[in-house]
Amino acid sequence: MKNYTLPRLDEDQQIRQRLLPHCRLAPGEIWIDPVRGHRIGCVDATDAGQIRKLMQGQQASLAVHDPPYNLVAFEKRSIGEFLHWCARWIETSSASLAPDSSLYVWLGADQNEDFQPLPEFILMMRDFKEFSSRSFITMRNQRGYGTQRNWMSVRQECLYYTKGNPVFFVQYTDIPKILRGYYKEINGKKTENMERSKSENIRPGNVWVDVQQVFYRMEENVNGCYAQKPIKAIERLIAASSRENDTVIDFFGHSGTTLVASDYMRRRCVICDIDPIYCEIMIRRLERLRTYGKTGWQNGNPFEKELHGVNLSG
Ligand SMILES: C[S@@+](CC[C@H](N)C(=O)[O-])C[C@H]1O[C@@H](n2cnc3c(N)ncnc32)[C@H](O)[C@@H]1O
Repeated sequence: MKNYTLPRLDEDQQIRQRLLPHCRLAPGEIWIDPVRGHRIGCVDATDAGQIRKLMQGQQASLAVHDPPYNLVAFEKRSIGEFLHWCARWIETSSASLAPDSSLYVWLGADQNEDFQPLPEFILMMRDFKEFSSRSFITMRNQRGYGTQRNWMSVRQECLYYTKGNPVFFVQYTDIPKILRGYYKEINGKKTENMERSKSENIRPGNVWVDVQQVFYRMEENVNGCYAQKPIKAIERLIAASSRENDTVIDFFGHSGTTLVASDYMRRRCVICDIDPIYCEIMIRRLERLRTYGKTGWQNGNPFEKELHGVNLSG
């Protein structure tokens, strides 16, 4: 099996200089998908003017955001600066969301750094009175950090807020129900949860243990992306909180997971990333899905042609 791993494309300056001329979007530009009308912008999530231009007056019923977490791996700011920055993209999101809509934010709690920035972010969200807190999802990763001297950190957190009264569709996992019990009286008859339930399988609830973290042997893997979310996780949010033909926004697009899931789930996606290279990856990932039915580059990478002959081993 070939595995054309790329270095972090936001950091490796030599490769960036090689790839930038091949990127279709420069900062401030928008690409419109000729097939389903998705829009991809090379846009700063905090720039109200650019986001307005990207939205073109449309309102979304769902936002799925996965910002950089202020972890050491990303460009680190003080927690105050980070929160101020978050407040700015929450404002642009709020302006882009319909009166009845859902907002999901993936955000980590660094166990080596006072669990920041998750608690501060949660407190900050209380200032946005238009949003009500609804749930706090934890997704289990298969790999983690802090394995020898601590509990291995394998969790990813996702906060769920709503504005107004949006849709919510119940879903089930592939995991069969095995536990009996939870007796409840219905119409004078004592019933047990197996007979009451609508499905043979369990619901995901807000602790997800059935989602495989992306790694290089999966078809959806996008080499060159360092923070890709599994399609299954994003698909679940889209299925719960939107209808067909709704608009879904994601202001931190990166590998374009929300775009890919929106496309085959028949939603319109308006997505952006501040980095032209990730914008180009998103366009190519959508084109690849359309041409080959593939969701990623398990045995390759999005820039095989441009990087042909380049020594990527560092
Ligand atoms: C954690 S990744 C998102 C991963 C994504 N959910 C996926 O599945 O591929 C965060 C992305 O946000 C982008 N980003 C950082 N600051 C931004 C800003 N101000 N506006 C838009 N995008 C930004 C980064 O370039 C990076 O690609």
